[in-house]
Amino acid sequence: MRNIVLLISGGGSNMAAIVAAAQREDWPAALGARIAGVISNRADAGGLKLAREAGLATATIDHNTYALREDFDAAVAQQIAQWDAGGDPPALVLLAGFMRILSQGFAASHQGRLLNIHPSLLPAFPGLHTHQRAIDAGCRFAGATVHAVTAELDGGPILGQAIVPVLPGDSAASLAARVLTQEHLLYPHVVKAFLRRPVG
Ligand code: GRF
Repeated sequence: MRNIVLLISGGGSNMAAIVAAAQREDWPAALGARIAGVISNRADAGGLKLAREAGLATATIDHNTYALREDFDAAVAQQIAQWDAGGDPPALVLLAGFMRILSQGFAASHQGRLLNIHPSLLPAFPGLHTHQRAIDAGCRFAGATVHAVTAELDGGPILGQAIVPVLPGDSAASLAARVLTQEHLLYPHVVKAFLRRPVG
């Protein structure tokens, strides 16, 4: 059985979409994969409540209590390994609205099993404020990207994308809402395809 661990920082709507798909589609039976737990770097993340209501294990690892990024990342890696004890192949780690930049060491030690969702059509608009930047650039389309995480921020291999129109009068908020709806379909879809791939 392959374990899946989700990392969140906020509302957790992408995490919830993946958890709901896993429960609705019985991923343990269908894909040999189960959600092992949800980690947040913020104790006040709304997604923690959603995860607990879904009956999942949760852990809060507050990045503010670590002097070095590498120390925080090591604590996250240790929690993943603890939930993944006996898991084969090693756990798939999904960044779902996780707003910390992980160290190169963490990316390297989880290479090939670390995915992220980013609210733009990468390689356009890596980083923050993606919707406002798309509007300011006059883009006619925007969207979201699921990619494998590498040492390059938002720069890893693209695994899937969803496209939405940018409508006249759109604000960053209205565009973000339209993109988020697609994210909730895209991420579970890409994760399922990833789990069906032969390992190695
Ligand atoms: C999403 O647009 C995600 O792509 C970005 O943060 C937003 C909120 O995500 N990283 P969630 O509701 O916390 O999953």
